[in-house]
Amino acid sequence: MLYDINIDDARVGYRTDGDGSFSRVLFVEKSRKLNPRGAAFSSYSPAYVSSNEQLQSIMQILKPAGKNCLAIAGSGDAPLFLSAYGAQHVDTFDISYNARVVMDVKTYMLKNNFCFYDYVHVLRDIQTAPDVLNCLSRDVVVRAVTHDTLEYLHGMRKCRIFMHTSNGEIACFPDSTEFVAMKQNVSGRYNFIWSDLFDLSGRITDKKYDIIYLSNVLQYVNATSDIVAVLNNMRTHLNANGVIVVDSLLQSLALARHAKYKLVEQEICNWANLIYDKSAMTMFLKIR
Ligand SMILES: C[S@@+](CC[C@H](N)C(=O)[O-])C[C@H]1O[C@@H](n2cnc3c(N)ncnc32)[C@H](O)[C@@H]1O
Repeated sequence: MLYDINIDDARVGYRTDGDGSFSRVLFVEKSRKLNPRGAAFSSYSPAYVSSNEQLQSIMQILKPAGKNCLAIAGSGDAPLFLSAYGAQHVDTFDISYNARVVMDVKTYMLKNNFCFYDYVHVLRDIQTAPDVLNCLSRDVVVRAVTHDTLEYLHGMRKCRIFMHTSNGEIACFPDSTEFVAMKQNVSGRYNFIWSDLFDLSGRITDKKYDIIYLSNVLQYVNATSDIVAVLNNMRTHLNANGVIVVDSLLQSLALARHAKYKLVEQEICNWANLIYDKSAMTMFLKIR
């Protein structure tokens, strides 16, 4: 099967007891084994159906028009906003295959001219569905994904594919202009690289980008030396004047003048500046 999806492994990541029911707490314990460097995510962990980031403000700072971007797939919102704001090309990656599923569902709806109400309705429906192949939006999901993904979803029946942000609401909507721009600028499914951050550099070989969007990913990397290693690896994929959207964790560490932040800053200060933007509530790494 394509992408080495291993349904047995996937089930191990979710199983909590004999009946295969889902428990987040135990799941997190299991996923630690699957992804020893990060706390909460694994190859099959549920994907958020919406971002909780200040994407409008972040885009105004990034100005992605005409730029080449690499973005965490996550909820699919970061790649979609980059496209809406005119990015020339967006590659995506994520450790979890389920991020690809939610991203493909969104791009399908945009390319098939769903109205905003239906778009939101489907997202609300799938984010809580215990079985996405047996929910009201089943037909949308089935049409949106590739054959391999559909086979995967069948294998994952009864496992959670999606999850919602803490208050259960869809946190980040495009406004009407952004929604139209998404429809115009998204050309179809994004190229998805199913990869842990630590293997990503090897997977994109000599590709270079103007923007690398890692926001809310590094916070799941525990060791400072690992954060520095990821940033140094990503440096080799940045064009001159490139930017990495770093994180909210680094930002709160910076505000607290935490030793971990100082260490990261020290390690990269010969090639980059870390800049915190209050309106976007996000930290950006800019090449010197
Ligand atoms: C909190 S979500 C935020 C994603 C994105 N910023 C958004 O708002 O949609 C974190 C994402 O990072 C991914 N992730 C976590 N650890 C990772 C790792 N080590 N390598 C690649 N992706 C990872 C998760 O699967 C998840 O999709």
